[in-house]
Amino acid sequence: MRYPAYRPRRMRANELVRRMIRETTLSPDDFVYPLFVTHGKGVKKEIGAMPGNYQQSIDTIVKDCSEIAGLGIPAVLLFGIPEHKDEIGSEAYADDGIVQRAVRAIKDKTPGLLVITDVCLCEYTSHGHCGVIKHGAVQNDETLELLAKEAVSHAKAGADMVAPSDMMDGRVTAIRNALDGEGFHDVPIMSYAAKYASSFYGPFREAAESTPQFGDRRSYQMDPPNSREALREVALDIEEGADIVMVKPALPYLDIIYRIKEKFSLPVAAYNVSGEFSMIKAASQLGWLDGERAMMESLVSIKRAGADVILTYFAKDAARLLQS
Ligand code: PBG
Repeated sequence: MRYPAYRPRRMRANELVRRMIRETTLSPDDFVYPLFVTHGKGVKKEIGAMPGNYQQSIDTIVKDCSEIAGLGIPAVLLFGIPEHKDEIGSEAYADDGIVQRAVRAIKDKTPGLLVITDVCLCEYTSHGHCGVIKHGAVQNDETLELLAKEAVSHAKAGADMVAPSDMMDGRVTAIRNALDGEGFHDVPIMSYAAKYASSFYGPFREAAESTPQFGDRRSYQMDPPNSREALREVALDIEEGADIVMVKPALPYLDIIYRIKEKFSLPVAAYNVSGEFSMIKAASQLGWLDGERAMMESLVSIKRAGADVILTYFAKDAARLLQS
């Protein structure tokens, strides 16, 4: 029997050969670590479905940030849990709001860490929706003004980058104009450009206390079966001035990451969301799979699909593993 001249297994024979020809490698530089900041002092409250992730007060989060920077992770993404919620999410754009104060504290103590802020209203509104509600519906254009105010207040506090996650139409233009109007030309926008109405946000809504009190987000977030629509959303955001475009969630949408990377030249981010994290953690706790390997395989698949930036709750665990 004559074997083929080319035997692929030759190049898999040992770890040195595999390392030499590996096409995709992860680095802590790829990661952004999401953080939840809350009022109080000395608070570090673990999020039920997200082991190892916490709601933290500013003093605690500042300590966490120096650990994060020490692991070589370049950036954090901040979500705020306000003291009081109201109809129009006032704390989202208050100069002494929880995120604004956290940004100042982190930039003061850990200047070497990029601080990205999530710009959205859902954590701050009593109804839990990402915009202003009238006649039972989320109002697009009225919401834009509030998002623009929120982004400016984050920039004033010292945020290095803003990341609108609301999925209102025209919000990148509104935020870009407002930032430029206040002299923040150099603050980039990472837009959640293709954000799907996903069941995988479940654990996050517990973490950020942002579950909608009625209805769902399907009138503003994307319908999971659509992919050409994602390309339109990204094209619009780029036209409006986005600097990084994000796909969210990541693992069930690797095809979307790939298509966007092929078609556009901007950096692509992917959000490995709470439910993707929880699934692996839970299965690993049950002994049903090897959590570390599943984590690294998931992260490398997101990068292989085309992500330049990965927002992930695994950032610290993965960075630790990569360092060792
Ligand atoms: C806020 C926002 C959400 C997430 C990031 N920003 C939740 C949502 O849209 O309901 C989800 C992140 C995650 O699940 O890890 N709009």
